Amino acid sequence: MSNLFISNHPLVAHKLSILRDKDTEPKKFRALIREIATLLTYEATSDLLTQDVEVTTPLAQMRCLELKEKVGLVPILRAGLGMVEGVWELIPNAEVWHIGLYRDEKTLKPVEYYNKLPLEPTVSVCLILDPMLATGGSAVATVDVLKNWGVKKIKFVGLIAAPEGIQNLQNHHPDVPIHVAAVDDRLNERGYIVPGLGDAGDRQFGTG
Ligand code: URA
Repeated sequence: MSNLFISNHPLVAHKLSILRDKDTEPKKFRALIREIATLLTYEATSDLLTQDVEVTTPLAQMRCLELKEKVGLVPILRAGLGMVEGVWELIPNAEVWHIGLYRDEKTLKPVEYYNKLPLEPTVSVCLILDPMLATGGSAVATVDVLKNWGVKKIKFVGLIAAPEGIQNLQNHHPDVPIHVAAVDDRLNERGYIVPGLGDAGDRQFGTG
């Protein structure tokens, strides 16, 4: 069974079209990243475990469900930061852990420059957030770090993926489900997804 989940929700498709438009300005771009991240996370978290909890309504006591698993959000810097707010709206008590990787422009390989994870894992599920699954190098390296930390359940949530990035992540970590809004044609020689949306970091932070 494939672990690739491509959203077919009309709202996701509509918002993604506006996001791709080169004339969409940073304020709107940021809002769309947040909104699409929320919608994708809704789909990606449908298998989170729950446990019983007693609740007293104004009329009676009843048995309800609450989330059993503690969730960690791991945005890949810097473009993944824009997805955090949206996911937090759904899972307000999620922990956010930062792992800093940059992509070496020559080798296109990830280099780790920031990691303050405590010795023992504090969460049981991690959602890796990155709008663009391009070469997959940063995603693979981030999963490596999280597995070494001891996290068993890891999912990747992104907006647009290249076939090359999907292949790379699936080859190294076939157990990590990949949730995206779209799979595009290819990577260009500079590691950008085509047609894609350009540089997701620059377009969010106005640095392009
Ligand atoms: N990162 C981006 O921001 N855009 C791409 O197309 C690829 C990687």
